[in-house]
Amino acid sequence: MKIRARMSMSADGYVTTPTGWPALTADPAFVSGESHGIQEFLAGCEAALMGRTTFEPALANSRWPWPSLDVFVLASHRPAATPDHVVTDGDPVRLLERLRAANRGGDVHLVGGPRTIGTFHALGALDTLELVVLPLLFGGGTHLTPALDPAAGLTFRRQRALPGGAVEIVYSCEGSRSPLPGAPSSQR
Ligand SMILES: NC(=O)c1ccc[n+]([C@@H]2O[C@H](COP(=O)([O-])OP(=O)(O)OC[C@H]3O[C@@H](n4cnc5c(N)ncnc54)[C@H](OP(=O)(O)O)[C@@H]3O)[C@@H](O)[C@H]2O)c1
Repeated sequence: MKIRARMSMSADGYVTTPTGWPALTADPAFVSGESHGIQEFLAGCEAALMGRTTFEPALANSRWPWPSLDVFVLASHRPAATPDHVVTDGDPVRLLERLRAANRGGDVHLVGGPRTIGTFHALGALDTLELVVLPLLFGGGTHLTPALDPAAGLTFRRQRALPGGAVEIVYSCEGSRSPLPGAPSSQR
């Protein structure tokens, strides 16, 4: 089992639109559950893992976003109307244990957001960071850092061009690199 974070981002580095929606949703090429290589990505996955902030909008969707996946949510309380099969837990270590105990050999799609990716990275549980860089500039929004420690070490693995002008880049996460020279101490 590998835990694979996959995030869309604008070409100027924002993972949300200025109004807080996932970057992907601003792309005219976006089709929920179908575009940007998501089906190929999900072929090896059996579970989705995410933070409460990312999960809650799905409860109002007419279409359940993870029909073929077990769903695990990091949340200190169980949001109202959460389907019975969804596992929620407020303790990331315990949620990880429950995820591993349920695992049948498939990978885990770590959906986000940045705080939850940072949390599982800090636990040493993040295997890959997979970015879908969109051909869009937002001029504002949320960055992946500093919720994900800027000292996270990334090793390039592969890339592919996607229909519609986006590019998928896959990095493996292997420990931390040295702090950047001159980085503020809060980033060390
Ligand atoms: N670009 C993309 O592909 C993409 C993908 C997904 C999400 N997003 C965007 O990301 C944004 C949300 O990201 P986010 O980082 O603010 O929120 P998030 O990671 O989705 O959820 C945060 C929540 O997860 C729980 N949590 C996280 N770390 C924890 C820890 N160490 N210990 C205990 N609980 C922890 C807390 O739940 P409680 O408050 O219940 O304790 C926290 O409020 C949204 O704007 C969404 O649109 C973008």
